[in-house]
This record gives sequence, C-alpha cells and structure tokens, in this order.
Amino acid sequence: MPPGAQRLLEVGCGEGSNLLYLRERLPGVQLFGADFAEAKVKLVHTADATCGAVCADATRLPFAGAQFDVVLYRDLLHHVHWARDEVVREGLRVVKPGGVLVVVEPNGRRLLNRVFRWLYAAERGSADTTPEQLLALGQRHGQARIEYIEATLLVRAVGFVLGWPPDRRQALLRPLYALASIWEKLIEAVIPRRRWAYLMMLVEAA
Ligand SMILES: C[S@@+](CC[C@H](N)C(=O)[O-])C[C@H]1O[C@@H](n2cnc3c(N)ncnc32)[C@H](O)[C@@H]1O
Repeated sequence: MPPGAQRLLEVGCGEGSNLLYLRERLPGVQLFGADFAEAKVKLVHTADATCGAVCADATRLPFAGAQFDVVLYRDLLHHVHWARDEVVREGLRVVKPGGVLVVVEPNGRRLLNRVFRWLYAAERGSADTTPEQLLALGQRHGQARIEYIEATLLVRAVGFVLGWPPDRRQALLRPLYALASIWEKLIEAVIPRRRWAYLMMLVEAA
C-alpha cells in the first residue's frame, strides 16, 4: 500500500476472499469491491457489511475519477482478455494521482498455467499474460513494472480442482496439501524468479 493510503477497490472481487484477507491486515483502510456477478457481490455483503461492494462491469466502473489509492485486479484480466486495454484504462481512471493499479495474474508461459488453460476454457485468456505482454500492456497506460511473487501455483491448483477441503474431507486431503506445499518451497529455491508462475504488475498513471 502507498503510505497514507485510505481507500482500496478490488475489481473482479468475486466472493471477497481478498477483501476479507485485507480487512484483517489493513484495519484503517476503507475497502470496496466490484464484480459483475450479482450473487458474488451479495456474498461479499454477507461476509463483511462494511465493504462497499457493487455489481459492475470492469470496463464501466460506477465511480467518479480519482477515488482510490489502490485499485486491485487479481485474476481478472485473463477473464476479460479481449478488453484488457479498456479495463486497465478504466482502473487507472479511478486511481488518485500518486496511487497505483495492482494487477496480479498467472504467468501464461509456465507449464501449469498452460495445462490449466487447456483443461478449462475460462482460463484461456492466460495465453496473453506472459510477463512481456503484461508489461507492454501496463506501459501503454502508465509507468509499469513487474514483480514475480509466487514460484508455482501447485497448492492453488490442487485447491481449484479439489476445492478447499471442507471439515469431513480435511483429514484425508491434508497430506496432499502438505506435499504440494513442500514441492512449492523446493521450486521456490530452485527456479529463477523470472520463471515464476504468478506475477504482480504495478502501474502508476502517467
Ligand atoms: C478468477 S475470479 C477472481 C476473484 C478474486 N479476484 C480472487 O482473487 O479470488 C474472477 C472474477 O472476475 C469477475 N469478472 C469477470 N469479468 C468481469 C467483468 N467484466 N467485470 C467485473 N467482474 C468480472 C468474475 O465474476 C469473478 O468473480
């Protein structure tokens, strides 16, 4: 978060898992969410009534300009890959001067992400989220830089396929998650950062 940041908006917030995570860690920050799925927005309200969550399309946010210190897109862009420039432009429109647009995406070049988009049609847009493509996108709209934040998405992939274990299955699945975590630590130690599987791009308005 930029120093003194007070307002954060997550676009494509889904059921609000990131907002709930941030609520615990950033108690003084006002949190807002936007998602075009009405049912998900309702879940955000149910989980945390203090989050200002609205139903909206990422290409047309219902906010006046320069409202937020941080606008977050996590795993959104590859679902709207046909309108990536429009979505980035719209996010930057609502960022205050000195604020930042934070884009978190899978590195489309990594093997696991390739397998995922082969298996799941909804993931196909990650073909356009290689580090070079993301950086070029950010630089068309402002000052952008890329950071590599996770070495592999194996635990996340296991969770995606099996679902985060509910109580009854928890004991059975725990060893599988533990193994995946050990594998992640190994990969982290061995693979150079530029080949990591999860990326964060920071864009400051020009
Ligand atoms: C993979 S989920 C990510 C959810 C959340 N950001 C997270 O990290 O858990 C993608 C979300 O983007 C939303 N979404 C997709 N296209 C959108 C659009 N054009 N405008 C707003 N939300 C959109 C979907 O409804 C979904 O909740």
